[in-house]
Amino acid sequence: MMQAKALKTRNHFTGPEARSLQSRLSPDSIPQSIRQSLLMKEGGFQVFEGLLDARFRHELLTEALAQLPEATACEVKIADAEEVRGGRPRRNFINSSGGPLQQAFYWAPWLLDFLRGLTHQALTPTGPCGTYSYYVRPGDYLDIHRDIVDCDVAVISCLNDGPKDDADGGRLCLYPERLFEPLSSIRATPQQGAVKVRLELGQTIVLYGGIVPHALLKVAEGQARIVSVLCYRAI
Ligand SMILES: [Fe+2]
Repeated sequence: MMQAKALKTRNHFTGPEARSLQSRLSPDSIPQSIRQSLLMKEGGFQVFEGLLDARFRHELLTEALAQLPEATACEVKIADAEEVRGGRPRRNFINSSGGPLQQAFYWAPWLLDFLRGLTHQALTPTGPCGTYSYYVRPGDYLDIHRDIVDCDVAVISCLNDGPKDDADGGRLCLYPERLFEPLSSIRATPQQGAVKVRLELGQTIVLYGGIVPHALLKVAEGQARIVSVLCYRAI
């Protein structure tokens, strides 16, 4: 049924465009070493406790808050036509570059060892530093997407969240059963296969962000969600 839906959506595309989309969204587009990795066997993502201790989380939060005056508001009201990775998903949040503390965490040999064991031995940081994201205005969000080509694995740590209730505001929404569907198909039926995860304070999610479609659901009024975002190339 899922395949039928995907194929139906792909009917919007014809000729070489359809063939290219089909090959970019086929299971063969994922290298076997990734398919066999521990993280993929867990569904493409896993949440960890304790990669940041309370003190370091607080130090990272202090660094993130210091970066806020230089941060950029990112708003995209209408998505582009990208169906697989990257592009311009709809969004509204604030983003800043990281600082030296986050950089030390990003490049820490123990963290790289840990991530390589989960994903791929060739895993490497995509750049010198990561970023901080601030979902601090009512309704800040990031629509369903897969991460850009350079970001195969995302490591997202929650530095601040709340106040929050039992609703979905600020939850990650992941689609581990819809890996091979075009983004337009998933965006058209966002409840289907949705796995909603609240990343609690100090927790870290390791995610095949270039493979598993995901979104950040709109934060509630008064909610302040601040996260550290690190990107790695898997191969
Ligand atoms: Fe993402």
